[in-house]
Amino acid sequence: MKIIVAKNYDELSEAAYGVIKEVVLSNPQAVLGLATGSSPLGIYKRMAEECTEGKVSYKEVKTVNLDEYVGLPPTHPQSYRWFMKTNLFDKIDVLPENTHVPNGCAADLAAECKRYDELLEKLPRNVQLLGIGNNGHIAFNEPGSPFDGGTRIVELDKSTIAANARFFESEDEVPKKAISMGIKGIMASEKIVLVASGSNKAEAVRAMCKGPVTEACPASILQNHPDVTVVLDEEAASKLYFKLW
Ligand code: F6R
Repeated sequence: MKIIVAKNYDELSEAAYGVIKEVVLSNPQAVLGLATGSSPLGIYKRMAEECTEGKVSYKEVKTVNLDEYVGLPPTHPQSYRWFMKTNLFDKIDVLPENTHVPNGCAADLAAECKRYDELLEKLPRNVQLLGIGNNGHIAFNEPGSPFDGGTRIVELDKSTIAANARFFESEDEVPKKAISMGIKGIMASEKIVLVASGSNKAEAVRAMCKGPVTEACPASILQNHPDVTVVLDEEAASKLYFKLW
């Protein structure tokens, strides 16, 4: 696990963007695994800027997202499909048909999970971008999720619902279920970049990097992946070091 500690969110975003940019420049047909939430916004901003400047093209790139709320249609402003469209896909030259987000409104959700796992087999990712929950979740694999699990319908933890309430009018409006790529699917990516900022992530980051590999902290499994870069700001990294005085 390579750990980079950046001075602030902008530097963190630039460092993580650098990894993704290198993948796309070396393979214009790369498959990118993408995440939603606050953490990747700075990376998506840099992707949009350098694409507009003609420095990086996503014309042949394919993207696969981690998760989607159950019950929110793609046009719902808090759906992850909408998040990706407005924060990234509309701002780069990726073809809409090459972007994939699980369908949280599928009539048969079990069939949708199976379809998504088949898609992941067909589109092996060159790099997977991740954030981390305050409770150590990756995608919506909450503590206790099986390390060998595939895409499935998950119940969101109370702490995840509380953390995501900031995007909704009230906590009651946050969906209670999501469709999430499993840990097995995440670990299948050739390369992984995880970004975390802020002191509220410090304990989860410590457990991920320095704690035992345990399903109690889903992100700890990343210690077993051969190519992971963790990019943190100083607050998120604050529990990684022993203080000598
Ligand atoms: C998002 C996702 C989640 C978030 C995590 C951190 O697609 O799968 O695991 O990465 O909840 O969210 P933020 O970045 O909003 O703190």
